[in-house]
Amino acid sequence: MSVDKKLSRLEAELDKLRRRVRGVEDLKVASEVFDRATLLTLYELANKGYIDVMQGVIKTGKESNVFFARDREGNPLAVKIHRVATSDFKAMSRYIEGDPRFPKMRRTRRGIVYTWVRKEFKNLERAHLAGVRVPRPVAFRNNVLVMEFVGRDGVPAPMLKQVELSNPEEFFRELLRNVRLLYCRAKLVHADLSEYNILVEEERPVIIDLSSGVVRDHPHAQEFFDRDVANLVRYFRRYFSVDYKEVHSYIVSCGGDHGVPEDSQG
Ligand SMILES: Nc1ncnc2c1ncn2[C@@H]1O[C@H](COP(=O)(O)OP(=O)(O)OP(=O)(O)O)[C@@H](O)[C@H]1O
Ligand SMILES: [Mg+2]
Repeated sequence: MSVDKKLSRLEAELDKLRRRVRGVEDLKVASEVFDRATLLTLYELANKGYIDVMQGVIKTGKESNVFFARDREGNPLAVKIHRVATSDFKAMSRYIEGDPRFPKMRRTRRGIVYTWVRKEFKNLERAHLAGVRVPRPVAFRNNVLVMEFVGRDGVPAPMLKQVELSNPEEFFRELLRNVRLLYCRAKLVHADLSEYNILVEEERPVIIDLSSGVVRDHPHAQEFFDRDVANLVRYFRRYFSVDYKEVHSYIVSCGGDHGVPEDSQG
């Protein structure tokens, strides 16, 4: 097929799909963020019924953008879209290679980014099943991840970094319980845990941004885990004294939490 013919087919396909996801054209950054492949991906997710309307920007970053959207029932969603062009493939690879879940990743830029998004979805699924407070994953395709919106009345919950906690001890305890569940039950290390990737929803933690997360037997898991713990300890020392070793051993002492999530449901 000639390039022209291919292009006109794609145009026709786009036209057919274009009506299916509302709001995309209205988003200011649309032209910058939504390249053709991403548009198609959004249309596919809309056709499958996951997204109805894109309504606004939550955060634009260097590598990804998070949008506010709604499903057909009007439920709020967060749609995280990775930019293929500006992603740091080298860094990403370090968090993918060695994870037995992704043995045959395509080593193209696109392949790495798509695997990155799939990894975040899989991690969210595992964490959610394990009872960790994370956004409920809804769907993913290519470079787009759809998940539960964390916030209220369209206003996203703030990052821990932006909040002065009124009861930091209680917040920290709940956070550690969640990190322990993530480690012991979901058998995952977040690997990018910090005050930037913890949201505060009605004074309670929600852990986000699980794209870096690795399984516990990943070759760098220990190093990533130690760093996560160090980040938490460092941050909470602004509120009270925290002992690194104590926190570390609390999280990894999995007694009673070994069970697979199904155990607790039946
Ligand atoms: N489910 C959600 N509900 C509400 N706000 C969210 C949600 N997910 C992300 N956000 C907002 O978007 C910001 C960026 O999200 P996130 O941390 O997942 O992406 P990122 O830091 O760009 O990821 P990475 O750098 O690993 O690609 C968050 O700090 C948060 O404010
Ligand atoms: Mg983040």
